[in-house]
Amino acid sequence: MCGIVGYIGTQNAVPILMEGLSRLEYRGYDSAGVAIMSPQGTKVFRQVGRVRELEAALPGRLSGRAGIAHTRWATHGPVTQANAHPQVSQDRRVSVVHNGIIDNADDLREALASRGAVFASETDTEVVAHLIALASAATLEDAVLEALRSVTGTYALAVTDERHPDRIVVARNGSPLILGVGDREMFVASDLSALVRHTTSVVHLDDGEVACVTASGYRTFSRDATDIAKLPTRIDLDLADVDLAGHEHFMRKEILEQPDSIERMIRGRLDERFGAVRLDGLNLTPRELRGFRRVKMLGCGSAYYVGQVGAQMIEDLARMPADAEPASEFRYRNPVIEPDTLYVAVSQSGETADTAFAVREVKRKGGQVVGLVNVVGSTIARECDGGIYLHAGPEIAVASTKALTHMAIGFAMLALVLGRVRDLSISDGQRIVAGLQRLGDQIGSVLADEARIADVAGALAQAQSLFFIGRVRGYPVAREGAQKFKEVSYRHAEAYQASELKHGPLALIDEELPTVAIVPDDELTGRNLAAIEQIKARNGRVAVVTHPGVPASAGEAWRITVPKNEPELDPILLTVPLQLLAYHAARALGHDIDKPRNLAKSVTVE
Ligand code: G6P
Repeated sequence: MCGIVGYIGTQNAVPILMEGLSRLEYRGYDSAGVAIMSPQGTKVFRQVGRVRELEAALPGRLSGRAGIAHTRWATHGPVTQANAHPQVSQDRRVSVVHNGIIDNADDLREALASRGAVFASETDTEVVAHLIALASAATLEDAVLEALRSVTGTYALAVTDERHPDRIVVARNGSPLILGVGDREMFVASDLSALVRHTTSVVHLDDGEVACVTASGYRTFSRDATDIAKLPTRIDLDLADVDLAGHEHFMRKEILEQPDSIERMIRGRLDERFGAVRLDGLNLTPRELRGFRRVKMLGCGSAYYVGQVGAQMIEDLARMPADAEPASEFRYRNPVIEPDTLYVAVSQSGETADTAFAVREVKRKGGQVVGLVNVVGSTIARECDGGIYLHAGPEIAVASTKALTHMAIGFAMLALVLGRVRDLSISDGQRIVAGLQRLGDQIGSVLADEARIADVAGALAQAQSLFFIGRVRGYPVAREGAQKFKEVSYRHAEAYQASELKHGPLALIDEELPTVAIVPDDELTGRNLAAIEQIKARNGRVAVVTHPGVPASAGEAWRITVPKNEPELDPILLTVPLQLLAYHAARALGHDIDKPRNLAKSVTVE
């Protein structure tokens, strides 16, 4: 979604801002823009389309020691140059970039118009630029504070003013914003990846905080102008993590990283002797863990599907009722919050607005919520009562792969913790611990089969429409497989329970509509093979994703085999070839794999 980057210091801001914008491209956007404080005054450029198109439109001699830049994902007003950010005041003196939504923009617009304001865009952001320019305060900080007093909504804002070219003022409420501290220079960004090339010393702003940033440092204060002392922290992020490092696409790079990244996640957490796992960040004593009677996962998109995988693991290993619900639905239905339910918010970015709202709804009603989050220090991570960090490293491709694998492993660990304070025996715990330790190598062997999976993907990509089917543990795997496939290949891919096929969707099966069937070697293998027979009988072609030793059903068109682990952990491995299927289908079709159309990496608006 929208991205912000800002710079003030001794270097030319233009290349720094453009490089920062390109680091934010992965979040998804439809237009981009930049405001440079040049010796000749503020120069604003905006462009629909890619950052490189904005770059091409900039005059070669453009330079300045400060500036702000933005990638926009349209919410208020269509994708046009006029609606791109920076938005400027009527006198063009004040420039503003904004992530989030100003809820009372229409009222403010009306009030400003009655005072003679003329608007050049349909954005909610433009009213903020007008308000700041019209403020009576003497300093830019005070003008921003004055404007914010009449604004309601969510924002990360960065503001420049020609009258005060030595500073950028930023404010945060509900949308992430980070300051980067350099040597006689300062950076501003909505996402760490835009800073990592320049500094590892950062300040995370909290909601309700404002900062004034100059080349020599920063001052943070609250909206009522009370100073808040905030010290920088070191970030543990490598430039290689956010670079393609020779790969064609981030999606493939991230799929291939999995054997190493999961090693990092499980290292030091598994206890082989007691068949247990140490999750100190949960902040729950064994007695508290024992007190929960149910578990409910809340997440959006793929995070919701992996929540279903997790619910099954918890039912299997802890024998507690568990289910998953899209956080985007949960938050709107006045949910009943039970004191003996453990709520688990699942999110790669930790910034998904629907999931963050669901967390607040649980907390407002006195429920207990822990997070399964990748981005350290993110909103959801901070708002939960405790949690499990995923340690997947930055995920740049919009379509999530490695973070989902880490979420599933996080759930396996949580299931082990909940199981071991109940009836899961030491030996069963040890079985799962050993299974987790095998996962890295086993994922490696799935990845080694990439060329063949790519062949299957090439064939499936020819179909306009596909089914993904699975049963019980295999069903959320099928859902995630279909989701990934549709996100990057733009083919219609629909997941069904294999058991439900005969109750309706079978009507659609013919030689044009292939099916990807998830067939683990477990107590349901026979039933799954029977469903495949029903598809075959209607001339449907089937790609079977299965374990070694599962008998081939007559005439299956393609077979992909993954190593067998423990039944509870098998969904993790069965998902990996589906990531490669989606990737290679999209590649065969020539799509923009890392930035699929219409999608954003993290949806920070409602
Ligand atoms: C967006 C992304 C999805 C992602 C979902 C949840 O819709 O396009 O790929 O699964 O958000 O994101 P989160 O960061 O909360 O895991």
